[in-house]
Amino acid sequence: MLSLRALLAFSLCRFISGYSEKERAHNLTYKYPLIDGHNDIALQLRILHNNKLSKINLTHLNKVATDISRLRAGHVQTQMFAVYTLCGAQQMDAVRLTLEQIDVVRRMCTEFPDFELVTSTQELRASATNKKIACLISIEGGHSIDSSLPALRMFYLLGVRSMSLTHSCNTPWAESSSTFYDVFIRHNNSLTTFGKAVVDEMNRLGMIVDISHTSWGTASAVLKHSKAPVIFSHSSSYTICNHSRNVPDWLLHELKKNRGLIMVNFYSPFVSCKSEANVFHLADHFDHIKRVIGAESIGIGGDFDGGNSFPEGLEDVSKYPVIIQELLKRNWTEDELADVLRRNFLRVFEEVEGVRDQLRWKKPSEEEIPLQEVENPCRSVLQRPSLRKLSSNQSPSLRAEGSLNLLYLGLVLLFSLSLRG
Ligand SMILES: *[C@@H]1O[C@H](CO)[C@@H](O)[C@H](O)[C@H]1NC(C)=O
Ligand SMILES: *[C@@H]1O[C@H](CO)[C@@H](O)[C@H](O)[C@H]1NC(C)=O
Ligand SMILES: *[C@@H]1O[C@H](CO)[C@@H](O)[C@H](O)[C@H]1NC(C)=O
Ligand SMILES: *[C@@H]1O[C@H](CO)[C@@H](O)[C@H](O)[C@H]1NC(C)=O
Ligand SMILES: *[C@@H]1O[C@H](CO)[C@@H](O)[C@H](O)[C@H]1NC(C)=O
Ligand SMILES: [Zn+2]
Repeated sequence: MLSLRALLAFSLCRFISGYSEKERAHNLTYKYPLIDGHNDIALQLRILHNNKLSKINLTHLNKVATDISRLRAGHVQTQMFAVYTLCGAQQMDAVRLTLEQIDVVRRMCTEFPDFELVTSTQELRASATNKKIACLISIEGGHSIDSSLPALRMFYLLGVRSMSLTHSCNTPWAESSSTFYDVFIRHNNSLTTFGKAVVDEMNRLGMIVDISHTSWGTASAVLKHSKAPVIFSHSSSYTICNHSRNVPDWLLHELKKNRGLIMVNFYSPFVSCKSEANVFHLADHFDHIKRVIGAESIGIGGDFDGGNSFPEGLEDVSKYPVIIQELLKRNWTEDELADVLRRNFLRVFEEVEGVRDQLRWKKPSEEEIPLQEVENPCRSVLQRPSLRKLSSNQSPSLRAEGSLNLLYLGLVLLFSLSLRG
């Protein structure tokens, strides 16, 4: 009798505390709405809709894990949207494809009034006050800049505020955690002289350096070299799941020294090392990283729409409060969770802006990658054009010497006319 009553009381207690933890998680994410480090909806827009936004309504989307109504339900206030170009486009049309992905994110974030494109911490905070979902653009994979600092700077002008140095392929100047593509293999140089110049230029511009997807060697070299804190925008703990995309404890210590951030990835194969996972597996990553370097180094980078398998109960962007609830159960304080949800990222981004301000005296870098490191048939060799070399089908009218002279004459005439006008 007594034991039954005790059991009842216990269950009621569990029920009430469970209920209040759910409410606490919602209240907390309402008060400290999430800044998430990585989302691949732009890739899905390319795959499923060929970027034709006029054909869809972002408020509700099928077949994907991200849309406006679910971002709202999940209390996502800022989303770093990845602009990603497949590694196969390296040394081909990666730059154009990246521009097209930037275009689709910019259109998404300007044509739908729930979103707002932001490029600074000041704008990010203002968008929170205005109840908007702030969009930050981040390039995923350094191959997008085709080894060109001027290209990097132009991406900055288009609003890009973060770039991961590699995706699953090495670049001529940085190394990937994946060995799937055997390009640009070096055995003793995970961040080349030009790679360091890329990091320097990102520091100067105020672009966050992202070392998710890089090899540990490259990550370590970047952590030693960067003047500003850096992030793993979507990586988890290697001790909990030994996947090469995850971060080992020795590297976490280097990250802490750099004042950087690891934004925990939810993709099941990185969470449980299996195709299925649950919220307990995911919470183990948070617990472990907190034990090693503290809650002040942790963020969230869900990686939704970047893979097809997410933990049970955490299938889309509306579910973020579920992990917060589990961490509350594991006695994380509200202060620690406010840091994880938002304040740590704001601190890092502000420090990145601070380094940019300190480097105002610096001119844009004119460092170039050595030509022999990027020679390939798709890269133009810059020299005075030799018109005679043009093949017949390229420009039949310029073939003969005579018509060339005519062209010259025409240009001279045009020039003198324009002087008079
Ligand atoms: C959640 O917030 C509401 C409204 O502010 C408040 O009434 C409620 O007590 C809070 N719940 C918990 C569990 O903190
Ligand atoms: C998208 O759908 C929402 C609600 O379902 C509606 O309010 C909105 O007007 C739609 N937007 C466009 C551009 O059709
Ligand atoms: C790296 O390896 C290359 C070729 O194996 C060699 O020429 C070079 O000296 C090495 N550099 C360093 C710093 O060890
Ligand atoms: C990862 O861990 C699994 C089981 O814990 C083990 O079988 C495997 O060899 C490990 N892989 C690496 C690369 O350490
Ligand atoms: C959380 O704290 C309570 C009260 O101090 C304790 O009973 C419980 O075991 C702790 N739970 C965890 C998962 O640490
Ligand atoms: Zn990724």
